[in-house]
Amino acid sequence: MPHTNTSVLFVCLGNICRSPLGEGIFAALATERGLAGHFHVDSAGTAAYHTGEPPDSRSIAVAAAHGVPLTGYARQVTPRDMERFDVIVAMDRSNRRSLQRLRQRVRRGRGDLADIVLMRDYDPGARDPDVPDPYYGGPDGFEQVYRILERACGGLLDDLAGPARD
Ligand code: 4NP
Repeated sequence: MPHTNTSVLFVCLGNICRSPLGEGIFAALATERGLAGHFHVDSAGTAAYHTGEPPDSRSIAVAAAHGVPLTGYARQVTPRDMERFDVIVAMDRSNRRSLQRLRQRVRRGRGDLADIVLMRDYDPGARDPDVPDPYYGGPDGFEQVYRILERACGGLLDDLAGPARD
């Protein structure tokens, strides 16, 4: 049996392109596997530039093309997230460094803080450790990021809940 109520936070820089996609794809895969009730998912950014904004229209479009709805508004990651989430998934090594610094500040002798992991460590096809930032590119970049996240979220779900069974 998988853990019940594992909380997973997806984190990128702006919380408008990659992390809302990661959150939506992971939730859709969990639902497909009958595991929706086992996870609480959210996303956040290490930067506050886009706080309060919906996901980037290009992320919404690529997700919709795959039947995945995106919800929520951008927010910056907080120290409390280190205590509230079981797993925090960084989209690239730069964001992982920011998260590790934040975690150090929160630590103060408390044991039970989130595990910080790198998204592409769960992507079996990864040639690069980072999910590329598609913000300044065209729609192709968003499709590429979608495919990376679909593989990596599948791998993460296998890791947290056991491999898919038919
Ligand atoms: P994200 O993409 O981190 O995947 O949400 C970005 C969004 C905004 C910016 C950079 C990356 N920006 O510089 O505003």
